[in-house]
Amino acid sequence: MKKLRVGHVGGRSVYPRLFNAHPRTETVAVCDINPAALENMRATLGLSKSQCFLDYDEFLRKADLDVVVIATPIPFHAEQAIKAMENGAHVLSEVTAANRIEDCERLVRTVKKTGVKYMLAENMCYFHFIREWTKIVHEGRLGRIYYAEGEYIHQVRDLIRDPVTGELKWRAYRPPIHYISHSLGPLLMMLDDRVVKATGAGKERYTMPDLETVGAIDMQVALFKTEKGATIKILRSQVVAREPPFHYFVLYGSKGCIENTGFRLGEEWGVMYVEDEDKAVRRIECPISNPEAPEEVKKLGHGTSEYYLVRDFVEAIVNDKKPPIDVVKGVDMTIPGIIAHEAAMKGEVWLDVPHFE
Ligand SMILES: NC(=O)c1ccc[n+]([C@@H]2O[C@H](COP(=O)([O-])OP(=O)(O)OC[C@H]3O[C@@H](n4cnc5c(N)ncnc54)[C@H](O)[C@@H]3O)[C@@H](O)[C@H]2O)c1
Repeated sequence: MKKLRVGHVGGRSVYPRLFNAHPRTETVAVCDINPAALENMRATLGLSKSQCFLDYDEFLRKADLDVVVIATPIPFHAEQAIKAMENGAHVLSEVTAANRIEDCERLVRTVKKTGVKYMLAENMCYFHFIREWTKIVHEGRLGRIYYAEGEYIHQVRDLIRDPVTGELKWRAYRPPIHYISHSLGPLLMMLDDRVVKATGAGKERYTMPDLETVGAIDMQVALFKTEKGATIKILRSQVVAREPPFHYFVLYGSKGCIENTGFRLGEEWGVMYVEDEDKAVRRIECPISNPEAPEEVKKLGHGTSEYYLVRDFVEAIVNDKKPPIDVVKGVDMTIPGIIAHEAAMKGEVWLDVPHFE
């Protein structure tokens, strides 16, 4: 059976090796505006020079691609995804989907118009413990979920401003709460819900006081109301003086509660309390990899997360199914962060959150 031809844009992506490991796909072209990053990808993947492109339009025109995987900085995601889809390619896009509401709407419209598959590569939704928790929530064991929290705290000051040259990078212009899908995505998936109203707070810059861009905001917090009536709180920082980085989640339901205790590699456990099952706090394992997955795929991404993500995306293409994080869900995981930042800048007001389908 003919393999799907996959092209990758953005040189730090984990995805080329994963698509090469999948029996139905192969990496046939790469693109990066930086010649050194391009050469590094070429050498690592064993590609020829004719399979490498500095220019994105030429890459789309000449490489005859069935699939484009986008792993460039966020401000390029929407434009590159739309061009690829209009060129007939299916798209897997790194997070978040876009950094402007109008681009989110254009993404949804383009998928409708072209009929190709678009999936947001929200790998946190595929972390093994999140997939296990999703089953617990969907089985109703925690009852009706009425409140949830997510936190993603990760100090990346060197990716905001180059420590040697002082040059500002794209993350200098990204409000921390814009990068919300790692926290909000898994919660919306578990709740099978979407955000309808948002507020946000946080505009102080005490950690990097000499930097005036929004990327230097110390900490932002968003509060959301969902369509089904739940409340969600998300906390986010990219500069805070705290190590190590972590993802935290908690869900409260009418029958029980589940929480990971400051999840980070090496501390892979959480706690669950289900009142009518055992009336005891139960320790639950949160391994980063599914123990049942083949050994060789466990080192290709964040545990087995990207392995299952790629598997689902390829299956959606091959069987003409809706991808699990399709464009509608992908922008639903993106827009609330954009609105929460706007709400914070307007003085912590509540704003409606648009939904496109
Ligand atoms: N899912 C995850 O766990 C995870 C982790 C890190 C980064 N990301 C996402 O991956 C993406 C890339 O992040 P990064 O830290 O690798 O960014 P980066 O700034 O290192 O850029 C990645 C590459 O893209 C190239 N590039 C920049 N603009 C380009 C363009 N217009 N066309 C082609 N190539 C271009 C750069 O030269 C670089 O080699 C972002 O969307 C980020 O949010 C996701």
